[in-house]
Amino acid sequence: MGKAYTIAVVPGDGTGPEVIREGLKVLAAASKKFKFTYTTKAFDFGGERYLKTGKTIDENDIKELTKYSAIYLGAIGHPEVKPGILETGVLLKLRFSLDQYINLRPIRLYDAAFCPLKDKKPEDIDFVVVRENSEGLYKGMGEFKDKGTKNEVAIQLSYNTRKGVERCIRYAFEYCRMRNKRKKLTLCGKTNVLTYAWDLWQRTFNEVAKEYPDITTDYAHVDATTMWFVKNPEWFDVIVTDNMFGDIITDLGAMIQGGMGIAAGGNINPEGVSMFEPIGGSAPKYTGKNVINPLAAICAAGMMLETLGEKEAAHAIEAAAIKVVTTKLKSLAAGKMGYTTEGVGDLVVKSLGK
Ligand code: IPM
Ligand code: MN
Repeated sequence: MGKAYTIAVVPGDGTGPEVIREGLKVLAAASKKFKFTYTTKAFDFGGERYLKTGKTIDENDIKELTKYSAIYLGAIGHPEVKPGILETGVLLKLRFSLDQYINLRPIRLYDAAFCPLKDKKPEDIDFVVVRENSEGLYKGMGEFKDKGTKNEVAIQLSYNTRKGVERCIRYAFEYCRMRNKRKKLTLCGKTNVLTYAWDLWQRTFNEVAKEYPDITTDYAHVDATTMWFVKNPEWFDVIVTDNMFGDIITDLGAMIQGGMGIAAGGNINPEGVSMFEPIGGSAPKYTGKNVINPLAAICAAGMMLETLGEKEAAHAIEAAAIKVVTTKLKSLAAGKMGYTTEGVGDLVVKSLGK
């Protein structure tokens, strides 16, 4: 028998539970086929629990979660909860408290038919964004001055430590080497305007680069990066960037790979507990309708297995997802796939085989 894992499952809000159900179905099939075992425990963090109890996530929850091999998360976000509460109280709290300092977001086009860019093929869109996940503007540092008056000033600081920047850049170099594709790492920043933060990033990048002579390095301003995502996505292999820029460019990345229905991500603590999620959010208007695309959640389960070391199973899940996308689905968008949420999960299980 293979290895045994413990998975903390957080279905969360909106369509989260629907897509997680399909991901778990695929995980079950993969465990039979590839001979690893696992147990799951469900946690009810999210908007519903917050509305009932006023609780987000506390230190005891965090302590409990550190006992698991990985966390599998659906979506956090509720239309009846004021913006910011669940984001900082649940999602960012998990990322920060568990020191998941990397947000790994692969951008891969599976089928040219689902790409909004003209004349781009799967081989043109195949790169990975390594987003710093613990600092920057997300640190929440700042203040109001004279709040509510006509002289009001709101300050929001970007907090970048040498240690935080360096561990992220090192991870990106290692990942680029391990990925072994074009062996090119692009630093995406804004050195021409944000002259403190990006000076630190650039210096650290240049220093660490010396240890990786096999990796070609490159720099692009964040605004130009968005232009190239559309014009020349084939230029990219691995991109490393800060938290805010990474947040923004990966939504664009999701669009060029076929939309939020297919975009998966991992919040990674290489030395601790990592968390995997579809990056699309809770999509309240599709909740309970069995129309949302579960492939992002299924691919997130694949990323989870990859990180746990079940490489063969991870690759098989991605291959099965590609097969379903290229041979069955009419669209990757909710309600237009030609199949229900459950139907797509079943197709992936079938394609995975016994
Ligand atoms: C994401 C989301 C989150 C972020 C929000 C929900 C806090 O947009 O995972 O990209 O900004 O990181
Ligand atoms: Mn985002």
